Amino acid sequence: MIAWQRRHGRHDLPWQGTRDPYRVWLSEVMLQQTQVSTVLRYYPAFLARFPDVAALAAAPLDDVLAAWSGLGYYSRARHLWHCARVVVSQHGGRFPTSSVALAALPGIGRSTAAAIAAFCFGERAAILDGNVKRVLARVLGFGEDLARPVHERALWALAESLLPASARGIEAYTQGLMDLGATVCLARAPRCDACPLAAACVARREGRPQAYPVKTRARRRARRESHWLWVEHRGRLWLQRRPEPGVWAGLWCLPVLDDAQALGSIVAGWPGQGESLQPVDHALTHFDWRLHPVRWALPGRLAATRLAAVEARLRSTGDGRWVDVAEAADLGMPAPLRRLIAPGSRGPAVVRP
Ligand code: ADE
Repeated sequence: MIAWQRRHGRHDLPWQGTRDPYRVWLSEVMLQQTQVSTVLRYYPAFLARFPDVAALAAAPLDDVLAAWSGLGYYSRARHLWHCARVVVSQHGGRFPTSSVALAALPGIGRSTAAAIAAFCFGERAAILDGNVKRVLARVLGFGEDLARPVHERALWALAESLLPASARGIEAYTQGLMDLGATVCLARAPRCDACPLAAACVARREGRPQAYPVKTRARRRARRESHWLWVEHRGRLWLQRRPEPGVWAGLWCLPVLDDAQALGSIVAGWPGQGESLQPVDHALTHFDWRLHPVRWALPGRLAATRLAAVEARLRSTGDGRWVDVAEAADLGMPAPLRRLIAPGSRGPAVVRP
């Protein structure tokens, strides 16, 4: 792959030949849902208007949206702007240098984080965007349904197992996977004669490259959105037992509010501050549940009467109690909540005043 990329891959794209994470990040976000030919028309102008992360963070969101107009999927532009502000406010204006830390930033998913870390910092990290899924599924003859998260996770594990043994050449390897997907291992008419992996490719041996990747159209499932109120005070968090019958019956959980307004009326006037975290998606048998966590840090020093007032509001959502963070690990908790509150798990993604 590395040798092929060096000879036959793309080398002159405007986001190549730099290790500046701002430039690479910007290109990767643009390329998430937009094809190269379109990005080529927007990228230089966007960079001229916002030459670095500080300029982007200092700009009004409306200006960013305006420069993005034509690229589509505007939530990307909003995330981009939020991300720039987080990089400036929480990272001193420098992007974090590991894929794990990058993936905690707004709008940077696992694959984008890995691409930035590989291109800018030489990290041995696996990418798996749509094109790479096709390449790997074909080469490996991976026929499981990628609409199911369990199979997608399996392909991620395979992508990691295929990484070059050392980080040397990881840039060319990463770019090579992208180039192969974009120029050779095409969705409709793969050019197997030009493929460096042809000899190893299971799909080719089977004579049916188009059979991969398998991705069923996701069944239309009911969706629900709720809000999770994560209140902390002096190393403790407020948990309540889920009512029976119902989802997660009997487990310990953060208070769940059905809409932002309900949540707003609970926290109105509270001391301290809240931040919205990246939503948590959880698939249940009968619906997909998206939970928007809001983490509220109460000041450590709080008059007893004010604390009692906070507790009264919390009790209006159902009975509950303070639980030491360390003790919480021992309680029966829904898995996504356990992951959310685990130390070092997903950090704040979207910061709102
Ligand atoms: N698609 C996603 N990332 C890309 C990159 N760095 N170069 C070309 N196409 C891409």
